[in-house]
Amino acid sequence: MKPPLHRRTTFHFLGILWIATALLPALAEDAPSQGPKGPWMDKALSPDRRAELLVGQMTLDEKLTMVHGGVGTGSAAQSIGGAGHVAGIPRLGIPDIQMTDGRSGVANAGPRGRYATALPSALACAASWDQKVAYEFGALIGKETRDLGFHISLGGTANLIREPRNGRNFECFGEDPILIGKMLGRALKGTQDQGVVGNINRFAVNDQETGRRVGSAILERRAMRESDLLAFEVAIRESGVGTVMCAYNKLNSEYACDSSYLLNDVLKKAWAYQGWVMTDWGAAHSTVKAALAGLDQEMPTGTYFGDALKAAVLKGEVPMARLDDMVRRILRTEIALGIMDNPIAARPVNPFTGAETAQRIAEQSTVLLKNSNRCLPLAASRVKSIAVIGSHADVGVLSGAGSDQVDAAGGNPVPGGRAVWHPSSPLKAIRAKVPQARVEYDPGTDLDAAVKLAAASEVAIVFVNQFNSEGRDVPSLSLADNQDQLVSRVAAANPRAIVVLETGGPVTMPWIGAVSAVLEAWYPGIRGGEAIANILFGVVNPSAKLPVTFPKSEADLPHPKMFAPPGFTVGNFTTIAGQLPPFDIHYSEGAKAGYKWFDAEKKEPLFAFGFGLSYTTYSYSGLQTAALQRPAVTFRVTNTGQRAGSETAQIYVSLPAAAGEQFRRLAAWEKVPLAPGETKTVTLDLDPQFLSIFNTEKDAWELLPGEYKVYVGGSSRWTPLAGSMRLSGAQ
Ligand code: BGC
Repeated sequence: MKPPLHRRTTFHFLGILWIATALLPALAEDAPSQGPKGPWMDKALSPDRRAELLVGQMTLDEKLTMVHGGVGTGSAAQSIGGAGHVAGIPRLGIPDIQMTDGRSGVANAGPRGRYATALPSALACAASWDQKVAYEFGALIGKETRDLGFHISLGGTANLIREPRNGRNFECFGEDPILIGKMLGRALKGTQDQGVVGNINRFAVNDQETGRRVGSAILERRAMRESDLLAFEVAIRESGVGTVMCAYNKLNSEYACDSSYLLNDVLKKAWAYQGWVMTDWGAAHSTVKAALAGLDQEMPTGTYFGDALKAAVLKGEVPMARLDDMVRRILRTEIALGIMDNPIAARPVNPFTGAETAQRIAEQSTVLLKNSNRCLPLAASRVKSIAVIGSHADVGVLSGAGSDQVDAAGGNPVPGGRAVWHPSSPLKAIRAKVPQARVEYDPGTDLDAAVKLAAASEVAIVFVNQFNSEGRDVPSLSLADNQDQLVSRVAAANPRAIVVLETGGPVTMPWIGAVSAVLEAWYPGIRGGEAIANILFGVVNPSAKLPVTFPKSEADLPHPKMFAPPGFTVGNFTTIAGQLPPFDIHYSEGAKAGYKWFDAEKKEPLFAFGFGLSYTTYSYSGLQTAALQRPAVTFRVTNTGQRAGSETAQIYVSLPAAAGEQFRRLAAWEKVPLAPGETKTVTLDLDPQFLSIFNTEKDAWELLPGEYKVYVGGSSRWTPLAGSMRLSGAQ
């Protein structure tokens, strides 16, 4: 079984990756043994037919083996050290299944002396707004998952960032369902194209860690379908992902893994989902109820779907047909994604190409939030002295903890705490850019010493961080450990103060007016230091945009205080223990999550959703709308500056008054590469579903007839083009 969360977060990977790679042939596992040939191995048959043939061969006990994890069940299958495993049926050629987490790289590699590439966080990937980047992100995870001998990658968080203090926001793809669905969909497609089974999680509305096993998210159905569930729907449709993980929490007072509405009605019927539903780890709560609600597999044990399910089937409480359906779904997915026909055998991971990919993604993901007086990029040939301050920037970059944790290659350079730092030193990377300059480091713990160094340097780069972890929400959006004070003091001492943020999600910035430049680098992965230096010195022109709103203050959020059980404090690790009183999490804002809330409430954010600067500038012109075959929008975007860059042009739409929405929705976007002075004409189709409301009475999407206002620009708050289109509603 996987080690407890707190141990996983502090695990130090001791192996030196290149040595480990050299040793790999000796570590390679055998391919799973092949069972006797049967008609179900005929690749000319469809996965569904082959699965049916297999189910017809299986005994009751064999079927039951497949619907729960092997931990604590006396299963013959051996874990290879991932999060979970399920025994196969060797006589039929069904392999054991090994699962590992993989939201920003493959977890659980270190304990086996293996290397896995630490990519930037999923939220960073979303900040690229680039579906090619998302595919590359997912493909690398898929490839390494397979190379490390695992069959299922438990990646793919589709939850909306409704709660900016959620400790797992770094695993998410933002606050907008279309952005999440499209970016995650591409990532999952990339993963599955490598011959492993992907996973989308945590279904559904699992948006805070505080009380995650007892809290009940309360959300009205229309809002749910138009926001949180839409993110899952789009990502599943775009990727054909093989497994869905139901969440720990309750949704509208019913456990997610017991919810027939979620699993049967929405996922399997409305979305015609063909894959299987597994629980989050320990998220099963019943046998008969869950089985009838559409749950297909309990992980990582067989508490409810082992002997208890056998008894329920024998008593007829769960029809044999339902058990057969669980097994058929598992088998047809394994067959369709190649797990049965192409047995998985571990082989060396290439750390070099992995790191290059990680760096490219980090460079596409770093958001330039402020740049007064063109403070950035720094001119490498002219800078004489730089102070690098804070956040262990001498040795590494921060990562998020919990089941998303990728072990630090070569060990955590900041041992002893809960946080893992990847050994990619921003200080070294900055020094490499300016060999002639004096570049000195101060840890930032003694404010007077940091101020002294800043005052004696031409430029002061302050690194600050916010540590996020599964199992622990952040108590507030303020930077911890006096870091706000550090930035303010450095900014007072040096007029060219540049802040580099390594955060899991949004933070507040009381010092924003005093600093010259701000870069949001998120958790940037194994080459984060190099990527940050390339942005600082203009080797790479920033092109990322925020996938989540940064509020000025928590008072502006839909819920200024986080929901917690009575008498319980947010931010305590024991929140996941499960011995807490049940409580409700009232998402009374409904579909108005993130920027939609700020728009509807007319609140000014610190940095808006979709915002991000570049070292060049862009202008927009020539908006045309058409609504003949399909709604479409055409416009021109021009690079009006001196450098090549890529602009993410965003289309927002507001619906006719009958929709009752006081906000605009993101409907489409395109990342447009532009040479200096270049203009491109962009035409984007708008998916009618993204302009529709969910009519709960009809239980169907409905495109309302009327006038749709269209806004185009470089962020949710900067839309220089405005027009409208009339839709008949009969699209
Ligand atoms: C997490 C899941 C993860 C699973 C397996 C659970 O605690 O919530 O996201 O996939 O553990 O590690």
